[in-house]
Amino acid sequence: EKGGWSSFMRKEVAEQPDAVANTIRGRIVDGEVHIPELESFGDDELRGVRRITVVACGTASYAGQVAKYAIEQWARVPVEVELSHEFRYREPVIDDGTLVLSISQSGETMDTLMAVKYAREQGARTISICNTQGATIPRESDAVVYTHAGPEVAVASTKAFVAQITALYLFGLHLARVRGTLAPEALADALAELQAIPAKIETVLGQSERVAELAHWMADTRSVLFLGRHVGFPIAMEGALKLKELAYIHAEGFAAGELKHGPIALIEPGQPVFVVVPSPRGSANLHPKVVSNIQEIRARGARVIAIAEEGDAAVLPYADEVIRIPLAAPLFEPLLAVVPLQVFAMELSQAKGLDVDQPRNLAKSVTVE
Ligand code: F6R
Repeated sequence: EKGGWSSFMRKEVAEQPDAVANTIRGRIVDGEVHIPELESFGDDELRGVRRITVVACGTASYAGQVAKYAIEQWARVPVEVELSHEFRYREPVIDDGTLVLSISQSGETMDTLMAVKYAREQGARTISICNTQGATIPRESDAVVYTHAGPEVAVASTKAFVAQITALYLFGLHLARVRGTLAPEALADALAELQAIPAKIETVLGQSERVAELAHWMADTRSVLFLGRHVGFPIAMEGALKLKELAYIHAEGFAAGELKHGPIALIEPGQPVFVVVPSPRGSANLHPKVVSNIQEIRARGARVIAIAEEGDAAVLPYADEVIRIPLAAPLFEPLLAVVPLQVFAMELSQAKGLDVDQPRNLAKSVTVE
């Protein structure tokens, strides 16, 4: 079933353009989001939502964290993202304005299932984002929006992650339309950005050989740090998680703004640091702030690998390596920036002779608490 690929992960990384395209398919009709699965949630109910609580674990929780930025910006609803196992055991505040959104590739993760059941017992309405038809979590939810990534076999999640962000973005745009929080042109622009993502992921995949070379040079590395900001922050954490799982290397993801509050003490000569650089076209001047973070760590000897958009020359004097991603609206960059991080972890795993599809100690679906 690997269809000529050397591993399921390699195949699934390559399938990401399709995972996004298939998750969009049929859900944008005449320039509008159309999610028939959400029919049981009438527009009035969606207008009445005062708060969204996302419950998920691992990579799925990072998809939730990315979507938090987009849904808050578009639909003006506060979104909190909770690890399912933390949510369940701390008497969370749930009222009838709370919508609980679960995210799970397998639909069987016990902690997430328990969180959903608990939320329903407390009277919350629940929607699940799931990749597995008929799984337990969707059956326990009021509605399900399926991701159509296709079966994910490798233990480490890749194509399901980009499909989760895609489904969450469609949901966020639907919510924004119903609530009237986004001008029609802005909504159309966002949908067009989403539809352009599969081809852009293909472009990023085109650089995989360079990323592989980088990984092969770094096969003896003992620790790698990842920095990001805004939507790049959960991507930094996802890059670190992939590296831990697949290459058994100590890795941590930080919010770049947090550097001077502690983590910068870790920087010593030769320390590899991946930096997800926000677009210079983004608002709030995040780009120069991250460039100055790069200068700070470089001055302390860090080896900087920047993931930056095409044409961003500001990073060139300070980065040891630059991996380019095509231009996209800032909220859509995570769907591109995550790809080289997945490839890096996969290649490093392979360079170390490890089993990339079945990392030690891990199972594809965690059906125990
Ligand atoms: C990481 C990974 C895990 C899963 C997590 C949730 O590569 O695969 O962190 O994302 O166990 O699994 P699901 O999405 O099936 O609930």
